[in-house]
Amino acid sequence: MKKVQTQVGIVGAGPAGLLLSHLLRRAGVDSIIVENCTREYVENRIRAGVLEQGTVDTINAAGLGERMQREGLVHNGIEIRFNGKGHRIDFRSLTGGKRITVYGQHEVVKDLIKARLDQGGEIFFDVRDVTVHSLESQRAGILYKSAGEECEISCDFIAGCDGFHGICRPSIPKGALTAYERTFPFGWLGILAEVAPSSDELIYAHHERGFALLSMRSPEISRLYLQCEPDEDLSNWPGDRIWKELQIRLRDDSGWKLKEGPILQKSVTGMRSFVVEPMQFGRLFLAGDSAHIVPPTGAKGMNLAVSDVKVLAEAVAAFYRDGSEDLLQSYSSTCLRRIWKAQRFSAWMTLLLHKIPGQCPFDDRRQLAELDYVTSSKAAATTLAENYVGL
Ligand code: FAD
Ligand code: PHB
Repeated sequence: MKKVQTQVGIVGAGPAGLLLSHLLRRAGVDSIIVENCTREYVENRIRAGVLEQGTVDTINAAGLGERMQREGLVHNGIEIRFNGKGHRIDFRSLTGGKRITVYGQHEVVKDLIKARLDQGGEIFFDVRDVTVHSLESQRAGILYKSAGEECEISCDFIAGCDGFHGICRPSIPKGALTAYERTFPFGWLGILAEVAPSSDELIYAHHERGFALLSMRSPEISRLYLQCEPDEDLSNWPGDRIWKELQIRLRDDSGWKLKEGPILQKSVTGMRSFVVEPMQFGRLFLAGDSAHIVPPTGAKGMNLAVSDVKVLAEAVAAFYRDGSEDLLQSYSSTCLRRIWKAQRFSAWMTLLLHKIPGQCPFDDRRQLAELDYVTSSKAAATTLAENYVGL
């Protein structure tokens, strides 16, 4: 068996694992990442698009923001559309100048992988059969196969950055964690389309046929979503049906036009809220989607992954600097305060904007009144804005 040693073994090369590895290097701490997909696959996996100000600041402070600053689209607000009318939420004036940046998660991932490999960092892609062991002893271990060869990383800490379906969380003995979960009875059908965005800012639309969202990736590429069944069969959705439905749900009375173009990619995503507590067991620390999932309506998932690893990197750095375990011990509770607020906001945005199956006519009216309130009261709009740009 091939054996290597490092200080922190990281499982997963998503935003959480990659950024952690960078932040640790800047603090003089060694790490190795193992990832079970190919580099090409992780660099092309289309997911999140909205970066909070704090996420942008963290990426810039780590010296990784050069392309994001050039190509990212800075937005000063969003539009909420219902009953055929658009209402702008102006983040800058409501939050004292904060903004968001639209820059694809896969672009962040490309930048982080390139920078890490250029610095001589170790990322092992396309590995198989990853397991973690000795979580409660002084030296923990990660076992995996690479090109058929059995390998082991021996390390002081393991960072479980392997997403919701990873192996780290399930490796923790039953009973050590408490899971809190809510599944929503709908999903999102997402498309990437080769057409200039029809709006300068994101449009979140409430419609009696279901939610729709207009987002973007660049001045040439649009990203759009439609509320659908959680297990929607994509084969029932040829391009012309998707565009027809988007036209209906995003329509407004002002004569605004949704531009159509070739669809480059289609996918269906379920909607779930999920948290485990605590986010640690022995030498294993969970970060990002391996510990929590939010429905995408509030655009919080990747931002939470970034804030988790910022806290974790500082805690690990303090341990090697002065032997203090205080920050490692408070890692979970520090992160969970932010996570539960993001859970609250994401569930609230989801229930505000979607057509809730089986909802009674009273609640349909109440939902419209809430949309009216959020878009007409400065106090309510400020609450939305400060949560959206990041607490
Ligand atoms: P992941 O990105 O899932 O990375 C985990 C990595 O671990 C993956 O590369 C995976 O291949 C690897 N892995 C898994 N199992 C193993 C194993 N056994 N061994 C080794 N490696 C393994 N968030 C936002 O902030 N803003 C948004 O606008 C937004 N929009 C979204 C839209 C959609 C349609 C979806 C699906 C998600 C969206 N999110 C958004 C959420 C965001 O994409 C996730 O929260 C984010 O990817 C979490 O990063 P992560 O690094 O924790 O996990
Ligand atoms: C996206 O651009 O993919 C996106 C934007 C806003 C969301 C979710 C996803 O709330």
